[in-house]
Amino acid sequence: MEKVVSGIRPTGNLHLGNYFGAVKSFVAMQDQYQCMFFIADWHSLTTHPKPENIQASARTILAEYLACGIDPQKAPIYIQSDVKETLELYLYFNMNMYLGELERVTTFKEKARQQPDNVNAGLLTYPTLMAADVLQHRAHKVPVGKDQEQNMEMMRKCARRFNNIYGVEFFPEPQNFYFGEKALKVPGLDGSGKMGKSTGNCIYLRDDEKTITKKVMKAVTDAGPTEPNSPKPEVIENLFTFLSIASTPDTYQYFDEQWNNCTLRYGDLKKQIAHDLCEIVAPIRAKIEDYSANTELLDKVAREGAEVARASASETLKAVREIIGFRK
Ligand code: TRP
Repeated sequence: MEKVVSGIRPTGNLHLGNYFGAVKSFVAMQDQYQCMFFIADWHSLTTHPKPENIQASARTILAEYLACGIDPQKAPIYIQSDVKETLELYLYFNMNMYLGELERVTTFKEKARQQPDNVNAGLLTYPTLMAADVLQHRAHKVPVGKDQEQNMEMMRKCARRFNNIYGVEFFPEPQNFYFGEKALKVPGLDGSGKMGKSTGNCIYLRDDEKTITKKVMKAVTDAGPTEPNSPKPEVIENLFTFLSIASTPDTYQYFDEQWNNCTLRYGDLKKQIAHDLCEIVAPIRAKIEDYSANTELLDKVAREGAEVARASASETLKAVREIIGFRK
């Protein structure tokens, strides 16, 4: 079975955009591939050198991913900083990557602009740490968003260069694995094209029914249809996208017809969306609460995940040390 590895940026709670995008794809993948997921807490030090509460935020993420259906028996989930083996590989990769090519990475340039007083070496070598994350398991596929394309190119470069320098065919060149067309793109509630934390237009998996309903009822609309069968403006199209995600095809058709004959009342449409979204979120939220209350279980999942990851990384490192020529 092909190996899949992906890192989770520890930034805030999961919202519906994450859920229908990455997380559901992760859950589907765990049956088809040998998956491992980890929380990239080292990477977060590049921008947040003094995080508030590292352990609590790792537990939060664990609880949410488990609640969404990640099964640690199928897909071990671990915390990056629990697997110190990664650092040795990170060091070897850093020896082979050039300053110039690291400086050219767009995300580095962007971060350097955002935090001019903290352009640290970790930021510069973000791609080599990411390469070590994946290549320590000699994984073939990495499910990531489009924003990670350049980091993935650097990862393949790390693999290729290592293989070339030592004349081996040891590391595979991991391929980007876009959730792509299968993943649903969830729009924002403020009329923007995408639900995202930074724009503050999110429904979180932790939101209760009252909060969800309030957020949906406040979603941006327009004055309403005036001409039969007119095309929908973007804000209305967004509401229908929510409907297609949350409701049955019948319900969609019902409201679509109302739009087409100009009888649609946005209040009714929103109530339907809110109701159907609550149906999806409520059971997940209940599970998040259960898992969050069970820190012992969460710690056990992370510990066992780390054991699997360390075993896999150790095997790779042993070979790497031999290839480079260190004492066995
Ligand atoms: N850079 C990724 C992000 O910002 C997180 C990440 C770290 C990652 N290491 C990884 C993703 C390894 C995939 C594989 O989302």
